[in-house]
Amino acid sequence: MLKGKHIILGITGSIAAYKAAMLCRLLKCAGCEVRVVMTPMAKQFITPLTMATLSRNPILVDFFDPENGAWNSHVSLGEWADCYLIAPATANTLAKMATGVADNLLLTTYLSARCPVAIAPAMDLDMYAHTTTQHNLAALRSTGVAVIEPGEGELASGLTGKGRMAEPEQIVAEVERLLGEKKKSLSGRRFLVTAGATMEPIDPVRYITNHSSGKMGYAIAGELARRGAEVTLLSGRTALPTPDGVEKVETLSAADMYTAATKRWSESDGAVMCAAVADYTPARTAATKIKKGDGDMSILLRRTEDIAATLGRDKGGRLLAGFALETDNELANAEAKLAKKNLDFIVLNSMRDSGACFRGDTNKVSIIDRDGRTDHPLMTKREVAALIVDRIESCLNR
Ligand code: C5P
Repeated sequence: MLKGKHIILGITGSIAAYKAAMLCRLLKCAGCEVRVVMTPMAKQFITPLTMATLSRNPILVDFFDPENGAWNSHVSLGEWADCYLIAPATANTLAKMATGVADNLLLTTYLSARCPVAIAPAMDLDMYAHTTTQHNLAALRSTGVAVIEPGEGELASGLTGKGRMAEPEQIVAEVERLLGEKKKSLSGRRFLVTAGATMEPIDPVRYITNHSSGKMGYAIAGELARRGAEVTLLSGRTALPTPDGVEKVETLSAADMYTAATKRWSESDGAVMCAAVADYTPARTAATKIKKGDGDMSILLRRTEDIAATLGRDKGGRLLAGFALETDNELANAEAKLAKKNLDFIVLNSMRDSGACFRGDTNKVSIIDRDGRTDHPLMTKREVAALIVDRIESCLNR
């Protein structure tokens, strides 16, 4: 499987760099061609001579050779590779990767690489558990980087915990899996996603709506499609472009969205209900513009159908996820909705968290299922979408 594959092995400045020698040897024995890129700090941990001898290629550290000015092209290196494996990946390097910093050859090569990228983090347990590191890993995962989880055990610092670089054999197996992955993880699966605000018409000019931008639902639809799913996005009012590979159906009112969702439910494997659906709609829509009079006026509102609860009643073996946007009693309200709508999990956002909810590009969520609650830090909506789709995948694979 790995025979003839071109692997760039990136090594950063961690004590686990000593394992890169074994890793390189295993890749060579499996028939790979290996080019090694090291950060300047990595050279303090393992010698270029060791890595050059094992890879049978000169190692690369600098943008150019100071002796003769020969250029080490990160672009052609990125084009040459079938896989870019960074092992060990320090907290510093993965933070730079997550933010696009390109101050060494290993990082410029990462930005130029068109091939699958895998990283094997290695660091002290507290650095690994730190919210910033976890945030950076989530950001990298959301862009498709495969993160080879570190193991637990004794660390070079003398402490014990999670942070040891995965063993070379395990890393090679992961590279093999990555290169052999013909099918995307959700190919063959069909999903419905509802997103955006509904518009409930009062007359031909006025309507009732809410502040939802649709960004969270659109990000989830895009992430499902990137992982190979067939996605139908039932969209309320938004100004967003349709994500690549997604079929969008405009469903402006709660009633339209209800009809479209229930019609497609039987042929779906799952649904993510992100739309901010109006709970009430005018009992009657005036055919012509309502003229103002001198006094007050009132509009009779009728309850709309709860789309999520309707799908939940007819769930069978399908997956159903919903959202709860709360201003108070967040957890209790979310748990009640999880049960009432028969959801597999519910994503809670609180209006009390700054940077979460409407319009913005970030969100801070807790994911709640029948086994408990996981709180996540503030992330971009794209990162939150990746987390939610990870959760969907683990529910489907249960
Ligand atoms: O009960 P509440 O409106 O807070 O529940 C929110 C969840 O239910 C969201 O997932 C939302 O998309 C969904 N919902 C729905 N149809 C409605 C109301 C809410 O699908 N009419």
